[in-house]
Amino acid sequence: MAGRFISFEGIDGAGKTTHVAALAQHLQQAGQHVVTTREPGGTALAEQLRSALLQLPMDALTESLLVFAARRDHLRAVIEPALSQGNTVLCDRFSDATFAYQGAGRGFDLQVLATLEQWVHPALQPDLTLWFDIDPAAAAIRRAAARQPDRFEQQDTAFFTRVRAGYQTRMAAAPARFVRIDSTQPREAVWLAVLAALQARGWLL
Ligand code: TMP
Repeated sequence: MAGRFISFEGIDGAGKTTHVAALAQHLQQAGQHVVTTREPGGTALAEQLRSALLQLPMDALTESLLVFAARRDHLRAVIEPALSQGNTVLCDRFSDATFAYQGAGRGFDLQVLATLEQWVHPALQPDLTLWFDIDPAAAAIRRAAARQPDRFEQQDTAFFTRVRAGYQTRMAAAPARFVRIDSTQPREAVWLAVLAALQARGWLL
C-alpha cells in the first residue's frame, strides 16, 4: 500500500477526535492528500452497524462480529482504495479498539478476536497508532460534560480501567507501531505531541 495509515485510539473522553480533524487540516495544508474516517463507520453499511452497536443490547460475541463486519466493509470500500491511491488515512479507532473494548473491557476471548482480525485484515495494520491515554476518572468527568452517553459511554470506571489496560497490552505487543500520548495534558500540549509523533517518523517537517 502506497499511503500511510494512522489510527487514533483511547478510552471514551480521551479527546482524540478533535485531533483527527486538526491533523487532517494540518497535513492538507502541508500538501498531503488525506482521507479522514472512523470506526465503527465510514461506509453506509458500517454507519448502520455503528448505530446498532451504540444503541441496541447485545452480547460481546455479537459486538465483535459487528465491529469486524463493519471493518471489512470499511476496508474494502474506503481504507484500502485510499491507501492504494497514496492518501494518508486518518482513522478514528481501528482493531486495537476491538481488543481493548470487546477483549479487555468485556472479557471476550482474545483468540477469537485474533482469528477475526486474521480473516478481515491478515496483512494490514496501521503504520502508526496514536494512543490518547487518560485516567478513566478524568475521562468520566470530560464525558459527563459532553453528550448523552451511548452503550459504551455508560460503562463504569472499572470497565474503562480494563479498556485502558487492553490498550497498554496492545502497545506492549507492537511498541514500534504505537505512540502513547498523555491526554491529561492541556489540549495544546497534546497537539504538539501528535505533531512530534509524525515528525519523529519524517512524515512532517
Ligand atoms: P467513538 O465514540 O470514539 O466514535 O467510538 C464509538 C464506540 O465504539 C466507543 O465507545 C468504542 C466502541 N468500539 C468498540 O467497542 N469496538 C471497536 O472495535 C470500535 C472500533 C469501537
